[in-house]
Amino acid sequence: MPGNRIKLKFTLNEKDVTIECPPGRRLIDIIRLDFKLTGTKEGCGKGECGSCVILMNGNTVNSCIIPAFRLADANIVTIEGLARVKGIPDIRSLFAEIQPLQCGYCASGVQMVLAALLLQNPKPDEREIREALSGNICFCSAYSGLLKSALHVVKHSKKRRYAKRISG
Ligand code: FES
Ligand code: FES
Repeated sequence: MPGNRIKLKFTLNEKDVTIECPPGRRLIDIIRLDFKLTGTKEGCGKGECGSCVILMNGNTVNSCIIPAFRLADANIVTIEGLARVKGIPDIRSLFAEIQPLQCGYCASGVQMVLAALLLQNPKPDEREIREALSGNICFCSAYSGLLKSALHVVKHSKKRRYAKRISG
């Protein structure tokens, strides 16, 4: 292929997209630079802080260490598309209801991890939430605020399901 570029088709926030790029281009650069979805943040750039987490085929991945060639036919969800994922509450809005964070740089990664947790386990307890978030580094050390927000999301999520059940 000329210039060692590959053509890839995948789904990004429920839209079918096609790109052409070097096979090793990082997913975070595709998201942020090519598609201008800047809600995903880069912290360490080496797969250790969780700032850049997105959902790939329903699982969390650090987008800074995912090369483009792994994207073929993948289903990618970024923080911008999170509200459209079925089966979970609007985590972004719920996070905004509590304002415990300092700079908020880690928030999108945390929300993506929380989304994956709720998809697998709709009623996680505090221990499970702490465990799920253990890979997310907050550079401001605002961990108690993050946990408070996460607990708020989970509590609201349970209430919403209950309200739906009794109204339906
Ligand atoms: S920026 Fe990707 S894990 Fe830190
Ligand atoms: S990195 Fe600043 S609030 Fe987490």
